[in-house]
Amino acid sequence: DEARPAKGLTVTITAGPTREPLDPVRYLSNHSSGKMGYALAEAAAALGATVHLISGPVSLATPSGVNRLDVTSANEMAEAAYRLAAQSDVFIGCAAVADYRAANVSEHKIKKTANSDELKLTLVKNPDIIAEVAKHRAGALRPFMVGFAAETRDVEAYARDKLTRKGLDMIVANDVSLAGLGFGADHNAALLLWPSADEAGQALGRRALPAQSKATLATAILDCLLERLEQADAT
Ligand code: PMT
Repeated sequence: DEARPAKGLTVTITAGPTREPLDPVRYLSNHSSGKMGYALAEAAAALGATVHLISGPVSLATPSGVNRLDVTSANEMAEAAYRLAAQSDVFIGCAAVADYRAANVSEHKIKKTANSDELKLTLVKNPDIIAEVAKHRAGALRPFMVGFAAETRDVEAYARDKLTRKGLDMIVANDVSLAGLGFGADHNAALLLWPSADEAGQALGRRALPAQSKATLATAILDCLLERLEQADAT
């Protein structure tokens, strides 16, 4: 019999970009392809977990056995995340959520003006989905919270800060400035960090995963995650 360490677990994963509309024909977004999040969903389902995949607009097939929910904007993703997190054991935020959206979405197409070379957009902050889930679901209903950190410099320092500030149980840091890895690529490398429960209280657990396919990396991330989860359950 094959080991099914995730059997009985419900895992919610966000993946892909969000799109923040400016007018009926334009939006702000980013280069996330969804590949990393979909690889995690596929790997978790293969381990026997019940998987909910909250997906931004991507052009990927739904991995078999995965429950996919399509969303467009950060606000839509937030709504789905808050609902599904309440029934999940693990929440993984792999989506590249837009930090800001247009303060006002124009009802009609924004017209080019003849008398000015500048167009000013006012943006307002989107909800920090993963931080909200980590905060509001404290107690028995709070899932084990895993975030990602996409950084272009000082990867470990920024990731440590996000781990603490967002109140997460684990963070998967990736350097998105490296050629052939990160956004849109088929390969990725990651540094996993988690608060360690040892005597010092301050020390962080740490595991570096070298560049490899997103499929094998996803399995390695889940392996570490399930180990942490087991430890958390044991304490
Ligand atoms: O999709 P791919 O092309 O495969 O690329 C994969 C990836 C590079 C997008 C992925 O590996 C990754 O790093 N995802 C997180 C991207 C990101 O937006 O990171 P961040 O450092 O800005 O956000 C930190 C964490 O907070 C993330 O878990 C993010 O999902 C979450 N967040 C951020 C902003 C926000 N408003 N709400 C959030 O929940």
